Amino acid sequence: MDTLTQLKEAQNKGWAHVAPLETFTPPPAARLLKHAGVSAGQRVLDVACGTGVVAITAARAGARISAVDLTPELLERARESARLANLEIDWHEGDVEQLPFEDRTFDVVLSQYGHMFAPRPDVAVSEMLRVLKPGGTIAFSTWPPELFVGRTFILIARYAPPPPPGAAPPPLWGDPNVVRDRLGKAVKDIVFDRDRMLVPALSAPHYRTTFERTAGPVIKLVETLSASDPARLSEFRREFDALVAGYFSDNLVRQDYLLTRAIKI
Ligand SMILES: C[S@@+](CC[C@H](N)C(=O)[O-])C[C@H]1O[C@@H](n2cnc3c(N)ncnc32)[C@H](O)[C@@H]1O
Repeated sequence: MDTLTQLKEAQNKGWAHVAPLETFTPPPAARLLKHAGVSAGQRVLDVACGTGVVAITAARAGARISAVDLTPELLERARESARLANLEIDWHEGDVEQLPFEDRTFDVVLSQYGHMFAPRPDVAVSEMLRVLKPGGTIAFSTWPPELFVGRTFILIARYAPPPPPGAAPPPLWGDPNVVRDRLGKAVKDIVFDRDRMLVPALSAPHYRTTFERTAGPVIKLVETLSASDPARLSEFRREFDALVAGYFSDNLVRQDYLLTRAIKI
């Protein structure tokens, strides 16, 4: 198995615990749909759909939805969630870097904090554009490297083993210049916007504890350091809490994100 495939297998296991975060992600999902201009009757793909908050919101708006994710446990939860709302969605287990759809199938391709985790951005973006019709909209929400969530990824990377060669850091997808470059000449009319996801918490350690139990990359890091180097784990936790403190007020953690929209030529 090559190193990127191993990375995806590890990610697949890690993301299995992220479902509780769906409590906070429905408002950003509605925001992304508005940014993308999703309307009834459109064929829409939700890439790296997780528990399906974007897919379900779009289906409620009358769009015809397909959704794909690497992690079967999250798709299970997504199916249950769609049944609850009595919605028909075409769910697929699959990889952003190899989408299981024909060329030019969708009017809109979306991803909320999802495709940014594929290790090869050029492959992910070319797949998302391949399945989009000419004149269709690609739109996504991503975490900028200089803001809270991006900074947590950079902190985690300092404590974790180096990623395999060829794997790009996810928060680069939150830099408009990088996004412009990656979308390249295949699109026109790029529009950026920003918004904020608010996460309730009682303190920085409360927030961190939730994060340690849900976010794939952190679960692994904490497991490894608690066995091999508890002092380093304490140092990581101290640094993490200090980072949270800068974005924490009124029992809320501010998580600002970048929204991107573009039209396929
Ligand atoms: C932070 S979660 C976001 C989930 C969902 N879009 C939401 O807004 O709740 C990241 C998701 O990306 C998925 N993922 C990571 N790498 C992927 C890949 N290469 N192909 C498909 N899904 C992937 C994970 O399984 C996980 O569901």
